[in-house]
Amino acid sequence: TAGVTAAGVLLVQHFYKGKGVKPKVNLDLQKDNPKVVDAFDIEDIGDKAVYCRCWRSKKFPYCDGSHAKHNQVTGDNVGPLIMKRK
Ligand code: FES
Repeated sequence: TAGVTAAGVLLVQHFYKGKGVKPKVNLDLQKDNPKVVDAFDIEDIGDKAVYCRCWRSKKFPYCDGSHAKHNQVTGDNVGPLIMKRK
């Protein structure tokens, strides 16, 4: 939906919380896809990979730091999944 910000959607979700409206985590990624799934072979990950868990990254499924703005705007506390070799 053009012109609707993630923060705006979250405000609406907060308003409707407890009123039978189910909030969504994914606001705008691959909306034509019935289920967004990303799979990686462990052997291909390399020494370190940082995956997005906030669904706001422009480089999804990788983290681009967008969680920081999301947390600031919403008061949320989400962050990435970091996989690294010992
Ligand atoms: Fe989503 Fe970092 S951008 S967890």
